[in-house]
Amino acid sequence: MAQPRLRDPEQITLAPDGRPMEEQPDWRQDFPIDWPQDHYVERRDFMKFLVLTSLAFAVGQIWIVVQNAIRRMRGEPALVRIAALDEIPAGSARTFAYPTPQDACLLVRGVDGMLVAYNQECTHLSCAVVPRIDERMLHCPCHEGYFDLASGRPIAGPPRRPLTRVLLETRGGEVFAAGIEERTT
Ligand code: FES
Repeated sequence: MAQPRLRDPEQITLAPDGRPMEEQPDWRQDFPIDWPQDHYVERRDFMKFLVLTSLAFAVGQIWIVVQNAIRRMRGEPALVRIAALDEIPAGSARTFAYPTPQDACLLVRGVDGMLVAYNQECTHLSCAVVPRIDERMLHCPCHEGYFDLASGRPIAGPPRRPLTRVLLETRGGEVFAAGIEERTT
């Protein structure tokens, strides 16, 4: 005599009203009660997430290309992405290269959230400056030079000229380098 097939209890989808899953309200379809349905929803949501993030990334890239084309027509330097805003919390700093790979720069976010960026080369004898964010300064350890964090201007030690400032633009939660401001005072 043929044995009845035993079904895995986890594989049974039976809503309390007994109707099939296709006839259940959306909320029950989104929160199924068996594993196969649950995995299906996870996969579906994951695919949705992948498609949406890929789309957002593609739109972002197209936006940068269009912006850079417009900037080129105006004779302005291209935007170069430095970091996402949430990668640089208040009171932190990160290095980047701009406008060439040989130009070491510092992006600093002050404790008040203000963003500034400078070429890292000290204007005295070209040592690399380091941020002292809590003291709102940039420090050159070679000859104890100090620069104001907000303006890049020298405030103590041998440097007489301000640091070269990198112009910044923040769009869509991302920070871009948008040019160089050479200054003598
Ligand atoms: S090189 Fe920076 S203070 Fe001299």
